[in-house]
Amino acid sequence: MKQELEKIEKEALEAIRAVSDPTGVRTLNARYLGRKGIVTGLLRKVSGLPPEERPETGKLANKLKKRIEKALEKAVQVFEAGRDKAAEDALDVTLPGRPLAGGRMHPITQMTQAICNVFQRLGFEIVEGPDVESDYYNFEALNIPRDHPARDMQDTFYISENIVLRTHTSPIQVRVMESQPPPVRIIAPGKAYRVDSDISHTPMFHQVEGLMVQENVSFGDLKGILTTFVQQIFDEETSLRFRPSFFPFTEPSAEVDIRCVICRGAGCRVCSHTGWLEVLGAGMVHPAVFEMVGYDTERYSGFAFGMGIERIAMLKYGIEDIRKFYENDLRFLEQF
Ligand code: PHE
Repeated sequence: MKQELEKIEKEALEAIRAVSDPTGVRTLNARYLGRKGIVTGLLRKVSGLPPEERPETGKLANKLKKRIEKALEKAVQVFEAGRDKAAEDALDVTLPGRPLAGGRMHPITQMTQAICNVFQRLGFEIVEGPDVESDYYNFEALNIPRDHPARDMQDTFYISENIVLRTHTSPIQVRVMESQPPPVRIIAPGKAYRVDSDISHTPMFHQVEGLMVQENVSFGDLKGILTTFVQQIFDEETSLRFRPSFFPFTEPSAEVDIRCVICRGAGCRVCSHTGWLEVLGAGMVHPAVFEMVGYDTERYSGFAFGMGIERIAMLKYGIEDIRKFYENDLRFLEQF
């Protein structure tokens, strides 16, 4: 009996040592300690021994049972520790979270919206027009004759002989007037295209066009509206200057300057020491344009203006190179 006990213990401990998963542990547990298990059978046998052998053999059998129990327990612990470790490796809840990169609107979009908001508060309605435009709307209807230098191949992207990428947002003026009688009060943001590229020009840029037509609109109204606009976008201190200029579709025409927002007129590099910055072109709508759209030139008058959005944004934020807007450098874009 004693030898049998030793043999069983040796086998059991070896089997437990060799076990490789929790299921194996359960199987061994059943094989040795279960109701019909080997050790359980042994203990039962002990009670059938002659009385003088019982205490001694019983003790040995009980010790054997304890040792097997312990070995199995230890095996279970090893697997549990392994499982906890694996779980820890998979998810470390103490690590700081990875922040999602926050998106934001492009500075040109922000500037466009800011400009449009000012004019909307003044009663102007936002309209848009096509980027790919006919020669008629981009030039002809704006009183830009066939031989005008603005039509030079150097400036205009031609799609075909009569189709161009619009060189300004002014064709939208014509489209609006064609589609409705006065009064008109519109603001038209959009892209414009010119064959031009340097520190202050990109082949694609943005403009905002403004147009107001009704009875008795004067140059004074134009000055008032533009002054309000400039003072809301820059500040109340910013003064304006209207310089005589020429556009085929306005008469009289003006270029509008603002007091240099960098040096306040003292003279600096940005304003080329003039104290002034040109920000937009404007004028009273030319009667020839009214005739093209069938407006009564005796009854109605109006003004129009157009400005480059990049230019306004560059002046407002002190950006020196227009190309920064289109390089998609997040360090630049995230500042807005
Ligand atoms: N279209 C002109 C430009 O691109 C700007 C302008 C618009 C001037 C309306 C006068 C009136 O330069």
